[in-house]
Amino acid sequence: MNARDLRKKYIDFFTSKGHVEIPSASIIPQNDPTTLFISAGMHPLVPYLLGQPHPFGQKLTDVQKCVRTGDIEAIGDTYHHTFFEMLGNWSLGDYFKTEMIPWSYQFLTKELNIDPKNLHVTCFEGDVDAPKDIESHDLWLNSGISEDHIHYLPKKDNWWGPAGNAGPCGPDTEMFVDTQPEAGPVEFETGCQQGRIIEIWNDVFMGYYKDETGKFSPNIQKNVDTGMGVERTTAILSGFKDNYLSDIWQPIIKKIEEISGKNYSDQNYTRAIRIIADHIKASVFIIADGVEPSNKEAGYVLRRLIRRSIRQGKILGIETNFIFNIAQAVLDNQDNYGGEYPSLNQNKDKILSLLEAEENKFRKTLDKGLAEINKLLGKNHSVSGKEAFTLYESFGFPVEMIQEELAKNNLTLNIDEFNQAKENHQKQSQTLSAGKFKSGLADNSEIITKFHTAAHLLHSALRKILGNHVGQAGSNITSERIRFDFTHPDKLTTDELKTIKDLVNAQIKLKLPVIVETMPFIESQKQGALAFFGNKYPEIVTVYTIGSKENYFSKEVCTGPHVENLSQLSQFEIIKEESAGSGKRRIYAVLK
Ligand code: SER
Repeated sequence: MNARDLRKKYIDFFTSKGHVEIPSASIIPQNDPTTLFISAGMHPLVPYLLGQPHPFGQKLTDVQKCVRTGDIEAIGDTYHHTFFEMLGNWSLGDYFKTEMIPWSYQFLTKELNIDPKNLHVTCFEGDVDAPKDIESHDLWLNSGISEDHIHYLPKKDNWWGPAGNAGPCGPDTEMFVDTQPEAGPVEFETGCQQGRIIEIWNDVFMGYYKDETGKFSPNIQKNVDTGMGVERTTAILSGFKDNYLSDIWQPIIKKIEEISGKNYSDQNYTRAIRIIADHIKASVFIIADGVEPSNKEAGYVLRRLIRRSIRQGKILGIETNFIFNIAQAVLDNQDNYGGEYPSLNQNKDKILSLLEAEENKFRKTLDKGLAEINKLLGKNHSVSGKEAFTLYESFGFPVEMIQEELAKNNLTLNIDEFNQAKENHQKQSQTLSAGKFKSGLADNSEIITKFHTAAHLLHSALRKILGNHVGQAGSNITSERIRFDFTHPDKLTTDELKTIKDLVNAQIKLKLPVIVETMPFIESQKQGALAFFGNKYPEIVTVYTIGSKENYFSKEVCTGPHVENLSQLSQFEIIKEESAGSGKRRIYAVLK
């Protein structure tokens, strides 16, 4: 069965059970600044799994574009992919196990025609937090799975989520296919280890909530979240042991073979061909959703994918631009994907031209780096670990290539020295960016702590007096003064400045407490905490509330530190107000 047929069967099946098909969300999270890419079908639905009503109702189904970059180095085997498609269906507080398990059984055995004898399922074995999932076990048994194909496993295997440290989660039941029944009976565990028994679907019963302290309690809204990987399931249903043999990948693989003159079946090249196919396909989808190569965040992941492909191209003997052609093959192969992705055709020209430009740029980098290596070799007859790090850091020259160049001269790189230099550099830049994130709070002296709390008061006062269009656009605090930039179109009047100053001082007079809490970023947003640093927040954040939790003057996500009570602050004064560029104003303030 090909990916299109699989998708059609899945969506038709669940719409026939009252689900509404929703389009795939962008690969770039729209309301979750804690991660760079959407990594599961449930990911864009988190607010709805937490209780927000979904415009299309409580029963949804889709095929979602996903990107996982946790382990780019693992790409090259038969089944890991950077970009993949996930089929899924959701109950947002509607049906639960008694509907979902019989549906799963029906879909697998009647729609996909998998012989129940070749199916295995796992259920949660129970622990102190939640009981053994006997209900799921019995539902599978009554559906037609034999007792010896139902396995109880502990939390590490059969519990999904929460996505962060806290949130909805629950026991899951996972469905596996024995891909080689002709080889005779096999123990479940052994079969999994041999790669013969493979998981294809996961039903999560989100009946619990895990709080920040690690405590599990029953969730008010009982959700179902399921996920089926398109690439893996398509391969299994077609009898392939290697995902790349299906139509999803073959035209792309063929194009790489044609350009390089190397065969996929030649084991010297299989891995490189897989990596190129995987990385360029992912790059095409990532650019289509609006990312451009850069040195940070999603743009950096994209840049790495393109550069790694060019490197793998060298293994195949490709020394001139070729990414463009592979990307064209990815675009031409749309009929074979599981879903329909209009962003590909809409952005075709942009995708191809950005890839071409990035390849040109990297090839120039490589030329420059090579010249530099040859210079060092001419001068010192070696390249030290530190020098290699400089090449890596300033030219973006891959360390493997430095090693290869040295090997040509019968030299080896002192990799420990290289790693040491890299570590030192990382430590330095972490300190720098931590300083940046704290808005100049590297020096945590008392006055700076006070200024920092005063900046939160100023931020809230500006929003209360000028309106909610005001957002922090930057802040710089020294022991001399607070400098605070914010979005606002007009110069502030003397009256406005006075009202703002008075409002801040009124809070200080009230001696309001400053409450510090940690919580998932999503929770902080539900509570209305201000957060203006785009994608920079970790999953778990610190929130500072001035006033009481229910009735507060200010609530902001911040790394702190802050004073414990406003009684520690003296009188607040605004010393200057000026423009900070188009649509932005700047205030200088002090505590007298
Ligand atoms: N969230 C679960 C997973 O990623 C099911 O969709 O497997």
